[in-house]
Amino acid sequence: MCGIVGYVGKQKAASILIEGLKRLEYRGYDSAGLAVLQGSRIDVAKKAGRVDVLAKAAGRHRFTGTTGIGHTRWATHGGVTDANAHPHLSSDGKFALIHNGVIENYAGMKRFLVGKGYAFASETDTEALVNLIAYHYEKEPETDGKSRFLESVRRALMHVEGTYGIAVLCTDCPGEIVAARKASPLVLGVGDQEYILASDVSALVSRTQNVVYLKDGELLHLTPANFSIITQDEEDVSPVVDRITWDIADAELGDYRHFMEKEIFEQPAALENAMRGRFAEDGSTALFGGLNLTPAELRQVDRLVFLGCGTAWHACLVAEHLIERFARVPVEVDYASEFRYRNTPLDRDTLFFVMSQSGETIDTLGALREAKRKGFKVLAINNTVGSSIARESDGGIYQHVGPEIGVASTKAFTSQLLLGAIIALYIARMRDMSFNDGVEYVKAVKSAPALVRRVLEQAPRIREIAKRYAHYKDMLFLGRLSLFPIALEGALKLKEISYIHAEGYPAAEMKHGPIALVSPECPAVFFAPRGEIFNKLVSSIQEIKARHGKTIVITTEGCELPPGVADEIIYLPDCHEAVLPVVATIPVQLLSYYIAVERGCDVDKPRNLAKSVTVE
Ligand code: F6R
Repeated sequence: MCGIVGYVGKQKAASILIEGLKRLEYRGYDSAGLAVLQGSRIDVAKKAGRVDVLAKAAGRHRFTGTTGIGHTRWATHGGVTDANAHPHLSSDGKFALIHNGVIENYAGMKRFLVGKGYAFASETDTEALVNLIAYHYEKEPETDGKSRFLESVRRALMHVEGTYGIAVLCTDCPGEIVAARKASPLVLGVGDQEYILASDVSALVSRTQNVVYLKDGELLHLTPANFSIITQDEEDVSPVVDRITWDIADAELGDYRHFMEKEIFEQPAALENAMRGRFAEDGSTALFGGLNLTPAELRQVDRLVFLGCGTAWHACLVAEHLIERFARVPVEVDYASEFRYRNTPLDRDTLFFVMSQSGETIDTLGALREAKRKGFKVLAINNTVGSSIARESDGGIYQHVGPEIGVASTKAFTSQLLLGAIIALYIARMRDMSFNDGVEYVKAVKSAPALVRRVLEQAPRIREIAKRYAHYKDMLFLGRLSLFPIALEGALKLKEISYIHAEGYPAAEMKHGPIALVSPECPAVFFAPRGEIFNKLVSSIQEIKARHGKTIVITTEGCELPPGVADEIIYLPDCHEAVLPVVATIPVQLLSYYIAVERGCDVDKPRNLAKSVTVE
């Protein structure tokens, strides 16, 4: 949510900032802006609208400076206007600041600063901070030999309640940027005679693969010659330079029209990567070095709690089903945002898992901290190396699916499902799953990429179905057991990218209320795979048909449906229960994607949304 980029080097900053902002646009796309140090002046271009609008506006300026900052906004305080776009200048014009996060006590700060004569040009919380920095700069010029620029930012931040990732320019300090973070990500790329600062690595991977992840409470000082990091308490930090393992092609569209499409079709490879090295040599169980738990410790666990938000929460629900079914350990799933404030009673031998693609979702991070504060061990299933959740958890599993850029999660979700299935196996084999059942389970999980490929081959047919259903205003998604969460996910995917109202429900619950919605105007997507309750599922579909509802039935190859029950049928290959949720997800991803395309929606940048939700 909000993308930040900064550049200090020998090249002209503006074009590098624009390129970085384009790559970060999925984090927010209401407005965009940049500020460049030009001699002793800061020049700003900022516009409501997409980065392309900014690029045009910036093209009319003569930006020649080699130090600058840029921002793409997801509005929190203040409407989507040019004035509210970042960067914000202090009223004396000495500082420019970009910000990702929320300054909760900005109103009091603003009152204080207005009283001191500072002027405000926007409705944002951010403008209070840039003026507070200017205030400290003027009020406390003596800094004991330390950088006055860095000190004024540090002192101002001591008064901030809330979250921030910021980058600041100062007209007195050519070639310098001061940046800082608290609960909003920042990463520094260390290039060849240049530094690029960004909210995530996709903005800098085209220039360098050497990165330093900033931690909460740290301040970074970039100068043309070097960089240094201190804590809020002025302790020096020795930076650790990491290497990014993926390259620029991973963050580019290639021949695809949208990142969502690319990421749907990448899933066979993504699943291979997610499970690589996860199985023991005997072929009957899993290996998870990163959990930092001995098998003996894991056997002590009486209960698991899974926490996540949105799509990741759906993956938690599937993990619950598989772990309870195969490992027979009670699992609870909660929205991270609810868990944080609910004060649930917890038993001592409870182990927590948080799931998060970005590793920066503030609600999930808050829940992780709350569970840790209560003394519990928290493990993470996470796709972003170096993210806050990766760093603050006690161990975990990386998804290894590469950057997910489409705002609607696809490959990250199916890899979370697969890893949940592998965790179920791991725990089950420590309890009462037999060797033979373990071998069969491992084979099933390993077959997931091939099974997904087979469903993807049906894309042209699903596209045709999508064309016939794109005009509806409402849709139901119904499924049972492990496919109830996939029904929820199907409904979420459809509503977030096509703006069709959709609801996911357990199929048998339909008759307790939602059946009132059934009509020729409200089609239902129905999961009815082979299994013990197949006939019950068919009866539920009949209930829809009896009320003239249209049905898209997703069933297993070889399953026979009574005539007239399905208006459309999509077949899944026969598969083990452990991988059924992964395989069944593909048709609803494709259906939502093609419906959104058919409706002319901006699939990768749905309205009001942004990826990596770093505000509460
Ligand atoms: C929906 C979607 C969101 C995210 C949610 C959590 O397609 O992507 O619902 O799943 O915001 O994000 P992470 O997994 O980054 O914590």
